[in-house]
Amino acid sequence: MAGLGVNIDHVATIRQVRQTVEPDPVWAAVQAELGGADCITFHLRTDRRHITDRDARLLRQTVRCKLNMEMSLDDQIVSVALELKPDQATLVPENRKEITTEGGLDVVAGRARIAEVTRALRSAGIIVSAFIDPLPKQVQAARDIGCDAIEIHTGTYANATGPAATKALETLHSALEIGLSAGLIVHGGHGLTYNNVGPVAAMAGFTELNIGHTIVSRAVFIGMRQAVAEMKHLLDMAKR
Ligand code: PXP
Repeated sequence: MAGLGVNIDHVATIRQVRQTVEPDPVWAAVQAELGGADCITFHLRTDRRHITDRDARLLRQTVRCKLNMEMSLDDQIVSVALELKPDQATLVPENRKEITTEGGLDVVAGRARIAEVTRALRSAGIIVSAFIDPLPKQVQAARDIGCDAIEIHTGTYANATGPAATKALETLHSALEIGLSAGLIVHGGHGLTYNNVGPVAAMAGFTELNIGHTIVSRAVFIGMRQAVAEMKHLLDMAKR
């Protein structure tokens, strides 16, 4: 069964709208763990638009399950990661104008720099995952440069309906199989919701699904702990 990684960035987004101290993403992480999260994920962006350095530090000190830091290849962010030592770093592309991470990292085109950052993080004992589109050449490149894991971008599937969704699922499944046969740990995420997560969670082989927006949205109405527990239940049910 895939573990549940809960992305808490959006709690910090609400706080930053008012430049105040609430809601606190560190409290959200505690509630997510109590709801059954297997991993807490946060993205320390170069512009610090949601998660701040203070959040990252406190998350490292308080999270008891796996801590996954999404990060760009920016020098200053790499230094923060090397000092913070999250359990896992997920390398993502970052673009200042985007609302959320838009596409996967192009490991083929950025091979040299990604390999350099991967080596530095791995030598600090951090598991390195690359967030990539479900393309065989990206999976192979991630393996070739020494990543431990990949996170396959599920956004195309999440945004599709009907036959396009079926096709996108097949593409995801084939990238998952290529990743597993290359000896990589395979995660998935982006755009997954309570309504569309089932078929992805039912695929054998995903170690972790990272889910954020839909959980935080539901948490507004029913609380973080319950929202996480309900998603965890769906992952559990999908494998039975
Ligand atoms: N995985 C990665 C690499 C992401 O960048 C994000 C968004 O921050 C997620 C998963 C979670 O996506 P969503 O908020 O759509 O569930």
